[in-house]
Amino acid sequence: METIFKTIELDHYTEEDLAEAVQIIREGGLVAFPTETVYGLGADALKEEAAKKIYAAKGRPSDNPLIVHICRWEDVSELAAEIPACAKKLADAFWPGPLTMVFPKKEIVPFGTTGGLDTVAIRMPSHPLARDLIRFSGRYLAAPSANASGRPSPTKAEHVRDDLDGRIDMILDGGEVSIGLESTVVDVTGEYPVILRPGYVTLEMMQDVVGKVGVDPAILEENQDLHFIPKAPGMKYRHYAPKGSLTIVEGEEQDVIRTIRKLVQEGINAGKCVGVIATEETKGAYPEGVVCVIGSRASEESVAHGLFGILREFDDLGAELIYSEGFGEEGLGRAIMNRLLKAAGHQVIFAEREVSHDS
Ligand code: TXA
Ligand code: MG
Repeated sequence: METIFKTIELDHYTEEDLAEAVQIIREGGLVAFPTETVYGLGADALKEEAAKKIYAAKGRPSDNPLIVHICRWEDVSELAAEIPACAKKLADAFWPGPLTMVFPKKEIVPFGTTGGLDTVAIRMPSHPLARDLIRFSGRYLAAPSANASGRPSPTKAEHVRDDLDGRIDMILDGGEVSIGLESTVVDVTGEYPVILRPGYVTLEMMQDVVGKVGVDPAILEENQDLHFIPKAPGMKYRHYAPKGSLTIVEGEEQDVIRTIRKLVQEGINAGKCVGVIATEETKGAYPEGVVCVIGSRASEESVAHGLFGILREFDDLGAELIYSEGFGEEGLGRAIMNRLLKAAGHQVIFAEREVSHDS
């Protein structure tokens, strides 16, 4: 199939510019579009056949449910069988925006969209193009991230083209996304909300709104060896993986730099192409290897924004070994490290402290 690539100028487009995309959605086709988090691959959420096409295009396991995107609060009651009070509070605080809530589903939501689950994940995005595509088409859009399964999520239309050209009907190019990391997925079917996937809306932000918030034990780093089954099926896959072998080096900054420099040297001596994920603050400390800056330590937002793009960049550069500095796990750092650790297949080493010679 030929994929139509259409550029949309965000500051002046009309309903007419989206007419073709709307028609494709109504006919059960697939349209990739930008959201504020990452690009999504959209299809009519209530058409089982359309949902099936999403799985085929991405090469996605069929037990991994899709998020249904809406543009009005009233839509929740069309899709969800029960709406707990905490969901309204979270929606008032974070919708439209990067939060996805899991509800018991109503019958009209096909199992093909929910990966066979009795629950449905719903998100109201804030990106104008995403909202208009939903509004103009008059459909709810099932949309996973628009990458090929296992690849880093797309933050630019070119990333979508690299992965899905020829496999989907259309790509709407609305430029680079603003956040760059997927939404937070929170289960609101229980006594209190439970985070199933950390994202841009942090645990602390939600606690401020609803008090008690849990975290699915399966996604906590300390439980990695205990083989819990995550409640968000997507969290069990080795996602976001670059082609090269990624290792995260944790520890004090100077120790991390020294350790990465040594590892880079060893890799180069062994004839490998070696990449380094550095920050604005540390980039000058690596004389060897292909050094890419993920963002600045002064801004967690910049690191979140740079993460997926940098993993793709190392693929293009043919990096065989990649070493990354680690990041703190508070606030947005929890989501950043969750993605980075998955990309690394949980390969982490701790930098050795330098032995002081004058003591
Ligand atoms: O920011 C985002 O959330 C992006 C944009 C496009 O909205 N979408 C996205 O979709 O990241 P996807 O399919 O790549 O990730 C959805 C995650 C998966 O881990 C999936 O298992 C989980 O949400 N999920 C979806 N429905 C669920 C449900 N009913 N119960 C538990 N987890 C669910
Ligand atoms: Mg995804």
